Amino acid sequence: MAPSISCLFLAVLLSAGCEVITSSDQTCFEKEANKTYNCENLDLSEIPGTLPNSTESLDFSFNFLPAIQNTTFSRLINLTFLDLTRCQISWIHENTFQSHHQLSTLVLTGNPLIFMAETALDGPISLKHLFLIQTGMSSLEFIPVHNLKNLETLHLGSNHISSIKLPKDFPTGNLKVLDFQNNAIHYLSREDLNSLKQVTNLSLNFNGNDIKGIEPGAFKSTVFQSLNFGGTVNLSVIFSGLQNSTVQSLWLGTFEDTDAQDLSSAMLKGLCEMSVESLNLQTYRFSDLSSTMFQCFTHLQQLDLTATHLTGLPSGMEGMNSLKKLVLNVNNFDQLCQINAASFPSLTHLYIRGNMKKLHLGTGCLEKLENLQKLDLSHSDIDASDCCNLQLKTLPHLQSLNLSYNEPLGLQSEAFKACPRLELLDLAYTHLRVNAAQSPFQNLHLLQVLNLSHCLLDTSNQHLLEGLLDLRHLNLQGNHFQDGNIPKTNLLQKVGSLEILVLSSCDLSSIDQQAFNSLGKMHHVDLSHNSLTSNSIEALSHLKGIHLNLAANGIRVIPSHLLPILSQQSTINLSHNPLDCTCSNIHFLTWYKENMHKLEDSEETLCANPESLRRVKLSDVMLSCGITPVGAFFLVVFLLLLVILLIFVVKFLLRWKYQHI
Ligand SMILES: *[C@@H]1O[C@H](CO)[C@@H](O)[C@H](O)[C@H]1NC(C)=O
Ligand SMILES: *[C@@H]1O[C@H](CO)[C@@H](O)[C@H](O)[C@H]1NC(C)=O
Ligand SMILES: *[C@@H]1O[C@H](CO)[C@@H](O)[C@H](O)[C@H]1NC(C)=O
Ligand SMILES: *[C@@H]1O[C@H](CO)[C@@H](O)[C@H](O)[C@H]1NC(C)=O
Ligand SMILES: *[C@@H]1O[C@H](CO)[C@@H](O)[C@H](O)[C@H]1NC(C)=O
Ligand SMILES: *[C@@H]1O[C@H](CO)[C@@H](O)[C@H](O)[C@H]1NC(C)=O
Ligand SMILES: *[C@@H]1O[C@H](CO)[C@@H](O)[C@H](O)[C@H]1NC(C)=O
Ligand SMILES: *[C@@H]1O[C@H](CO)[C@@H](O)[C@H](O)[C@H]1NC(C)=O
Ligand SMILES: *[C@@H]1O[C@H](CO)[C@@H](O)[C@H](O)[C@H]1NC(C)=O
Ligand SMILES: *[C@@H]1O[C@H](CO)[C@@H](O)[C@H](O)[C@H]1NC(C)=O
Repeated sequence: MAPSISCLFLAVLLSAGCEVITSSDQTCFEKEANKTYNCENLDLSEIPGTLPNSTESLDFSFNFLPAIQNTTFSRLINLTFLDLTRCQISWIHENTFQSHHQLSTLVLTGNPLIFMAETALDGPISLKHLFLIQTGMSSLEFIPVHNLKNLETLHLGSNHISSIKLPKDFPTGNLKVLDFQNNAIHYLSREDLNSLKQVTNLSLNFNGNDIKGIEPGAFKSTVFQSLNFGGTVNLSVIFSGLQNSTVQSLWLGTFEDTDAQDLSSAMLKGLCEMSVESLNLQTYRFSDLSSTMFQCFTHLQQLDLTATHLTGLPSGMEGMNSLKKLVLNVNNFDQLCQINAASFPSLTHLYIRGNMKKLHLGTGCLEKLENLQKLDLSHSDIDASDCCNLQLKTLPHLQSLNLSYNEPLGLQSEAFKACPRLELLDLAYTHLRVNAAQSPFQNLHLLQVLNLSHCLLDTSNQHLLEGLLDLRHLNLQGNHFQDGNIPKTNLLQKVGSLEILVLSSCDLSSIDQQAFNSLGKMHHVDLSHNSLTSNSIEALSHLKGIHLNLAANGIRVIPSHLLPILSQQSTINLSHNPLDCTCSNIHFLTWYKENMHKLEDSEETLCANPESLRRVKLSDVMLSCGITPVGAFFLVVFLLLLVILLIFVVKFLLRWKYQHI
């Protein structure tokens, strides 16, 4: 209390003592000392002298460098990453990067390139990733790549390239990604692709090119990691070109605004003449849904039919025994049984997210999927008064179930008995009606992650989390506790193995000192976006080394006896609190500066009080609450006057008393 009292005197006597230091440095932002800098959007027309020669990673995007040459970056010879997005570069002169042997990523996206010297890229022999998106180029001959032996990815999207024929000296030895999306490529010949024959495992992207023809066999006997022909109008064209090729992942999806032809079984016959593991047909329509439609799908391991306007899958599909992953998001099923799950006996992953109609779960529709490990039924308007044992009957290997963003679900005790091996259960934003005094999660001994955020739970039910012996991660965000208080006996006592606990936005104003006593293993606690004051910090006194988020609460002053509790944690977020920057909080303010390395988001950790320091960063506040010589002098004078006054008063009182005897 002493400092606050003396500061009060000081304030009265000197009305000074508080000083603000803010930096108004308009130069680059240092992300890692001597190595990583961000100079984005600073209107710079040269590399600032303040950048050290040792800079390795530089984001220089959105500045102004109409021409670059050998002197522009000559000082920064250790650059490994250079981003020059939208710097209005038109000219790249001889030997611009001559001494940049370490440069591994160069981003030239969004520059209207007119000229690139033959020797412009001679220096960076380590260059792996080159971005030339939206640079206005129309031919691959424009890029002086001959020296780039290590090139792995080349991004050429949104240009005017019409032929993919690589120049003779194009180094393909390490090439992994060639991205031609949104160019003007309409025809692919065998000769075009011959230059890529030696490259195995290439990812080639033709998304958004209106491809009208491929020479038959152009892709034959080449192995691709992925091929993307997104947005093609007539898929027959693609299939005839891909005969006898081998593709890991084939992306043929289209877009709502493409006037794509409906898929017929004749069209999809092309799949029988090539080898594909993973196929995406997003947003197409099927002309009819007979079982022959899928006759060439039998070797697929993954199939994505997102938004293909399906109301069901045909029964009697045969031979789909290899399929492991099926994505049926954003379709129009009425009932889960309409997917005819029995046709895909090996399925391990099934996604039916964002169904366009109310999805009825039916009874045992997935019964035959004995190997199913992951099921996503989120955003599908599902409701059920008694979930989920009948609906999810016999899914013995299910590990992950997502029922988030659905309509109200009623849960009885042991509601997930049908899937005893669950490790992750996501029920976020689904209103839960727990009908039992026992836990609906009782039998889930292997459950590790439970998301119950925004479930409108009855948090006073102390049995709610019973039986979750291995629970590590619990999210209770957005649920309410009675009177905004977590009492001493609460539902968390049953989950002693918890490591991560999220209680943000729970309208909390207090936490009992012993509320978390049974939680000894926690390493991450999120209490942000509540109305907590510093009193609640006491509940964490037995925890050490945790990542603690106390952002956006009502913390003003943190008294000194609570500081050791904060000191023993590893990372703390105190941003967006109405922190007090007067001398009554001097212990905390001093602690704060000594522990900056533990604090997150110091940019947003600001003073709310006094008015003169409002919105000043805590780290910039210089308070002097001790007694300065001048202050001490006035203080002594003041005290002396006080004593003299006191003596007079006593004297006066005594005299008055004697006079009245
Ligand atoms: C950065 O460079 C300066 C000057 O060369 C040096 O004093 C400082 O220790 C360096 N900092 C780090 C973190 O390497
Ligand atoms: C560049 O990196 C090398 C190796 O790490 C180092 O020896 C050299 O001092 C660095 N150059 C500059 C200008 O920092
Ligand atoms: C840049 O190029 C010019 C002309 O070719 C040359 O005279 C100069 O020495 C070069 N500068 C650097 C830093 O290499
Ligand atoms: C940075 O490099 C330039 C040119 O190579 C040199 O003139 C300068 O002295 C260097 N600066 C430091 C601080 O080493
Ligand atoms: C092919 O590339 C993918 C990703 O680019 C990689 O995961 C895979 O291991 C590669 N396969 C071979 C055989 O190199
Ligand atoms: C594909 O392979 C088959 C059998 O090897 C062959 O008959 C056919 O001509 C090939 N197709 C093309 C376009 O090369
Ligand atoms: C689609 O392409 C195939 C093969 O090139 C062609 O036979 C067919 O006529 C085309 N369909 C339409 C409607 O243009
Ligand atoms: C469950 O689905 C929601 C919405 O589709 C998604 O945001 C969430 O990440 C999913 N949960 C998990 C654990 O993947
Ligand atoms: C629920 O929490 C899990 C684990 O943090 C997370 O992966 C998932 O995305 C969350 N779900 C939603 C809908 O945010
Ligand atoms: C600190 O918490 C605030 C509010 O929740 C959040 O916006 C911010 O990202 C957090 N900071 C870090 C570094 O996680």
